[in-house]
Amino acid sequence: MLNGGRTKIAELLKTGNRDCDVVVKGWVRTKRGNKNVAFIALNDGSTVNNIQVVVDVARFDEELLRSITTGACLRVDGVLVTSQGSGQPVEVQARRIEVYGTADPETYPLQKKGHSLEFLREIAYLRPRTNTFGAVLRIRHAMAYAIHKYFNDRGFYYLHTPLITGSDAEGAGAMFTVTTLDMENPPRNEAGRVDYTQDFFGKPCNLTVSGQLEGELGALALSQIYTFGPTFRAENSNTPRHLAEFWMIEPEMAFYELEDNMELAEDFLKYLINYALEHCMEDLEFMNKMWDNELIDRLKFVVHNDFVRLNYTEGIEILKQSGRKFEFPVEWGVDLQSEHERYLVEEHFRKPVILINYPKDIKAFYMKQNEDGKTVRAMDVLFPKIGEIIGGSEREADYGRLRARISELGMNEKDVWWYLDTRRWGSAPHSGFGLGFERLLLFVTGMANIRDVIPFPRTPKNAEF
Ligand code: 4AD
Ligand code: MG
Repeated sequence: MLNGGRTKIAELLKTGNRDCDVVVKGWVRTKRGNKNVAFIALNDGSTVNNIQVVVDVARFDEELLRSITTGACLRVDGVLVTSQGSGQPVEVQARRIEVYGTADPETYPLQKKGHSLEFLREIAYLRPRTNTFGAVLRIRHAMAYAIHKYFNDRGFYYLHTPLITGSDAEGAGAMFTVTTLDMENPPRNEAGRVDYTQDFFGKPCNLTVSGQLEGELGALALSQIYTFGPTFRAENSNTPRHLAEFWMIEPEMAFYELEDNMELAEDFLKYLINYALEHCMEDLEFMNKMWDNELIDRLKFVVHNDFVRLNYTEGIEILKQSGRKFEFPVEWGVDLQSEHERYLVEEHFRKPVILINYPKDIKAFYMKQNEDGKTVRAMDVLFPKIGEIIGGSEREADYGRLRARISELGMNEKDVWWYLDTRRWGSAPHSGFGLGFERLLLFVTGMANIRDVIPFPRTPKNAEF
C-alpha cells in the first residue's frame, strides 16, 4: 500500500494485531503526562479518533520532547500494544520520534478544543485540522463518491459542462464576468460602450450558474447524463444557505416526465443519506454528539418515509390557512421563502415535500407548460432545516411553445439558438433537476451554516483562502 511509509491511524485502531512494529505519522492534538511518562494524542485525518502514543520520558532527548506541542507533526516508530487506559483499544509505545514540523504554542491558533465556528471560519486554512472539519470533509468526500457511484451504477454518463459560458439564458442568478480586458481602460466602440469583440472570447462571457442547458444537449444524445461541478452566483445574499461558489449535481434524462423526475430525486436523496449512514457512522456520531443530537434520527427518518407530493396551489392554501404570520405574506403567484418551505415540511407534514406545478411567472423559461396556461411542470424538493434542496422540472420539448415563451419573456432568441435547435431536430420529452451539494451536506452533517460544509467558502467580501 502506498501510504507514505506509515500505517493509517484508522487501520491501527481497528486491527487485531498486537506487539508488532508500526510507524505512525500525524499531528499532535494534545500532549499530557508527568515527569516519567508522556501521552501524545496523534491524528492523521483518517478518522476522528486519535491514537495514543506513550513516551517513556527517560528514553528521549529533553529538547525533542519539549518541541512536541499541539499542532506539531511527528513520525513515531514504536510497538502497537493493547492500551492500558480505557479510552482506546490500542496505543503505540514510542521507540523513536522524529519531529517533522513544530508548532510554536505562542503563535499556533488551534491550541484548545471548542473554538467557535465563527472563529474557525477566520482561519479556514487551518480548520481541516479540527475534529469537526475532519468529519465534515470526510463526509463530503463520501457523498461525492456516492453520487458518482449512484449514477454510474444506473448507466448515467458524467458530462463535463463548461464553467465559462457565453449565454446568460438560465436566469438563475446574477453572474460573474470573465474578461481579460483592461478594467482601467477598456476598449470602446463607436457608441462608447465596452467593445467586447476585443475581449478574449470576442463577446461578453460569464461564470456559469448551472450546467443544465448544456446538460440537456447531452441527454438528447446519451439519454441519461449528469453533471457535477462548481457553479457561481453573484447574488449578494448573506444567508446560512447561500454561497457565491457552490457545487451542483444536475442529472438530465431523455424520456423522463415529471413523475419519473420526482421518483429519481427521491430515490437519489435516500440513497445518498443511506450511504452516509452505512459508511460514515463514526463521523455522524461525532456530529450528532457535538452539534445536533437529532441528526442521526432525522437521517433515518428521511430514508424510511415517503416524501409528500403536493401542488403549489395546494401548498399556498395550506400556508394561508395556517394562521401563521409570515414575514413574507403568501398569495398565489409568490415565490416561496424558506420560512414557508420550512413550515410545510417541519410543521404541517413533518416530512420532506416535493412541491410541483408552480406558476410559470416565477420559474425559468425552459420549464414545460401545463395545459392550464398558468403553471409549469416544476418541482422543488423541500427538506427539514434546509428548505429547498433540489430544484428541477420537466423541460419544454415543443419548439413552437418554447419559442413563444422566449419571446414572451423578452429574451433574445440569438442567445439560445443552439438550445432551441435541439427542439427542431429529434426533440424528446425530458426532465432533470439540480441538487445543491452543500445543501445536501448541511442536511447530512447537521451543520447550520453552509460556510461550514465547504473547505473554502466564497461569500460576499470573502475570498481569502
Ligand atoms: O433551483 P436552482 O437555481 O436550479 C437550477 O439551477 C436548475 N438549472 C437545476 C436543474 O434543473 N438542472 O438550483 C438548484 C439547487 C437549489 O435547489 C439549491 O439546492 C442549490 O442548487 N443552490 C444553492 N446552493 C448554495 N448556494 C446558492 N447560492 C445556491 N443557489 C441554488
Ligand atoms: Mg430553485
